[in-house]
Amino acid sequence: MSNSLPSPKPPLHNIFTAVPPHYDLVNHIITIGMDKRWRRLATLACLETKPHRVLDIGCGTGDLTISMARLANKDTEITGLDYSPPMLEIAKEKAEKAGVGKRVRFIEGEASHLPFPDSTFDVTAISFAFRNLTYKNPVCQSHLAEVLRVLKPGGRYVIVESSQPENSFIRACSHFYIRVFVKPLGIILSGNIGAYRYLAESMIRFYSPGEVKDLLMSAGFREVKYRPLFFGAAGIYVAVK
Ligand SMILES: C[S@@+](CC[C@H](N)C(=O)[O-])C[C@H]1O[C@@H](n2cnc3c(N)ncnc32)[C@H](O)[C@@H]1O
Repeated sequence: MSNSLPSPKPPLHNIFTAVPPHYDLVNHIITIGMDKRWRRLATLACLETKPHRVLDIGCGTGDLTISMARLANKDTEITGLDYSPPMLEIAKEKAEKAGVGKRVRFIEGEASHLPFPDSTFDVTAISFAFRNLTYKNPVCQSHLAEVLRVLKPGGRYVIVESSQPENSFIRACSHFYIRVFVKPLGIILSGNIGAYRYLAESMIRFYSPGEVKDLLMSAGFREVKYRPLFFGAAGIYVAVK
């Protein structure tokens, strides 16, 4: 199943069709391997209510989708959606290798025009793509409206994302680390200056947990819970429709 993308191409599309070759490696290195644990915690949060249908938005190379497929009940339908065909190709290969190729489906689509009927999913999930979709992105409000539309009443939006530590000293250390390590290393390993310049700047300037909660509540979610990870460098939000 494929969803034709709006024309002209949506925001950041060029960055995410250029990044794939070393994408996973860069992620593991810049998070000192913690991204795996954070996705696993997000997986457990997604599966807590034994959902029947789950959608991973901005699934990229499929790590969260695959993690959910490994741990979910056999009758749980799991879909990964992304607008980057190269990312989706890698995701499909990884799912096959992990032995869950038949448990998941991957769809090319745009997060602000989700190709599903109203009230389809018990859970929508997103790992490290929420910032891309909401920070200074014109599709922010339409993305949130679409998530609310495709979630069933009482359905949950589980978000794992980089965050701003509350403690000002830890926040300064985190920003220093992003500037002097994440940005240059990402550029060297991927060869993509624009992508990692954007990544670093958006991480440093991204909203605080309070601002993310306000964004979700004003979009129409009725409850938002937040759990900080690694001194608040990342966090998991669970927003209820
Ligand atoms: C930083 S990557 C995260 C990928 C993956 N979820 C992970 O945990 O590694 C962001 C992903 O979101 C996708 N993306 C960004 N904006 C999108 C949009 N408007 N519609 C669909 N996918 C989008 C990108 O193609 C990319 O694969």
